[in-house]
Amino acid sequence: MSVARRLPAVLQNLSLPVIAAPMFTVSYPDLVIAQCKAGIVGSFPALNARGPELLDQWLTQIKEELDHYRRTHPDAVVGPLAVNQIVHTSNVRLEQDVQTCIRHQVPILITSLRAPVHEIIDAVHAYGGIILHDVINLRHAQKAIDAGVDGLILVAAGAGGHAGLLSPMALVGEARKRFEGLLVLSGSIVTGDAILAAQAMGADLAYIGTRFIASREAHASEEYKQSLLSSTAADIIYSNLFSGVHGNYVRESIRRAGLDPDNLGVADKGLMNFGQGGSKAKAWKDIWGAGQGVGQIDDTPDAAEIVLRLKREYASARARLAQLPWPAK
Ligand SMILES: Cc1cc2nc3c(=O)[nH]c(=O)nc-3n(C[C@H](O)[C@H](O)[C@H](O)COP(=O)(O)O)c2cc1C
Repeated sequence: MSVARRLPAVLQNLSLPVIAAPMFTVSYPDLVIAQCKAGIVGSFPALNARGPELLDQWLTQIKEELDHYRRTHPDAVVGPLAVNQIVHTSNVRLEQDVQTCIRHQVPILITSLRAPVHEIIDAVHAYGGIILHDVINLRHAQKAIDAGVDGLILVAAGAGGHAGLLSPMALVGEARKRFEGLLVLSGSIVTGDAILAAQAMGADLAYIGTRFIASREAHASEEYKQSLLSSTAADIIYSNLFSGVHGNYVRESIRRAGLDPDNLGVADKGLMNFGQGGSKAKAWKDIWGAGQGVGQIDDTPDAAEIVLRLKREYASARARLAQLPWPAK
């Protein structure tokens, strides 16, 4: 099936095949609005809004600003909004947050950890929305496929935040063998060339997180942003110590917290707790999440400028590949 046929209606009018990834403590309305205005999918985790009422306000604000932008820029491509929901027993807000998103008819829900239940999927489909589920391995992918999600976000090795260990080639290749729906690839994608590579592998869209932490609009401290500019892939540490689940973090932030990045202990899974809107908020604030793509990030421009560069790079990568002399006749 061609990419165009696989794309649901809400994803058919994008300036690039890109979903900006939701990031705890980083993706706030300013960044999300800038991403959507640049024509890609903008997203945030529901838990970034400290309480269900604030989530409701944010959804109203984002919709109003994007509607106004559409009216004043009738030729602009404006991307749809996605909201991330953590499906975990400790997330006591889940039910209420999902209902808020349904009331606002959020076009895309991104679910993480456990596969979403049929009731959520049916309610989102009823207004024409879609559900994408975030997975790090094929076992979780199969559960989400069985639950009836519209697409899978394949979080490969080297992704910022909670990441898997599988090569993107293995993950996309095996997922494509068993699933005809939408595939989105996540992990260290920071250039237009890499977006095209994701599509060459069999993914439909790229999922980009870390590149947007180093943007003007990101809700991250100046020290955090600067640490991305000075880090390379070798400075990204994979550990489960900070949240109970393995994730990728910036070496410098671990050192600043008084720990030895090369000798971190291990934590047990019971640490995971989203009860207080992410009780590990402090850990995430002090210990900075980032993917292995950091070595290719050298500045902190506006999100719009990042998307403009991605577009240029994507176009020139396509042109470059078209010149290759293979396959030989
Ligand atoms: C600081 C940070 C916070 C994140 N928070 C979340 C989150 O709340 N929910 C989620 O599903 N993914 C979260 N992620 C993972 C991203 O959505 C995405 O999978 C990842 O950033 C993509 O890899 P990249 O950063 O290498 O581009 C987070 C990533 C980072 C770097």
